[in-house]
Amino acid sequence: MCVRFANAREVKRSRQDYDGNAMKSAVVGLEAEHAARPADLARHDEAALLDMLETLEGQHGYVPRDVSDEVARLVDVKLERLRRIQRKLDTTVRRDVQQHIARWRNEEGNLIMILHAIQNQHGYVPREVAMELSRELGVKLARIYEVITFYHYFKLQPPGAHTLTVCNGTACYLKGSADLLNEVRSQLGVAEGQTTPDRQFHLDVVRCIGCCGMAPAMVVDGKPCGHVKPGDIAGHIAAIRTKKEAVT
Ligand code: FES
Repeated sequence: MCVRFANAREVKRSRQDYDGNAMKSAVVGLEAEHAARPADLARHDEAALLDMLETLEGQHGYVPRDVSDEVARLVDVKLERLRRIQRKLDTTVRRDVQQHIARWRNEEGNLIMILHAIQNQHGYVPREVAMELSRELGVKLARIYEVITFYHYFKLQPPGAHTLTVCNGTACYLKGSADLLNEVRSQLGVAEGQTTPDRQFHLDVVRCIGCCGMAPAMVVDGKPCGHVKPGDIAGHIAAIRTKKEAVT
């Protein structure tokens, strides 16, 4: 968007054919909404504001000074709010990491134990936490990522709300786990270790869940299921979706 700032004469002219107060109220209204629900304001409100400004510019060839001043003020307020949130997050991340380090400080192989604690807390290892860990431990970030990526257990992305884990151990493999895995991949549209774009389903593959007598087996949200056939997969996914809809 190209915003041209109006000079005093243009502002005066604009006020004759345009109700600047209405625009100002709209901007103030958006700010009030931000305050009420800062979390998900973003795209919708910003797009609405940009639309209004573009319409205004299209109609008059410029954006009046009082409106541009109001937008600048709104941006300042929003930036300050985001800075406060960032400071709070930084403090929280540092405190959590220090607690994990204190717990495992004198243990051998403590990096892995700390990463386990972080993943248990967040469900994955967020980048900002890994960076804080690197600073606090004095270990290179590259070394931390070496460990995270070496062990299949650690995740770098938030997990999905639901996890389908297909067993690909020997007993399950011999009983057709490859077909099961293909079916889950195809139903969810993701590969193992990935989460669907809506973050609802995560697909994992493991080697033996200790239910070899029920091969081929899988685990759906922590519940082991045995003698699973590819044709059962759609039903498992539908059951999760139905349960979720019933709750919401
Ligand atoms: S190999 Fe699948 S449960 Fe043991």
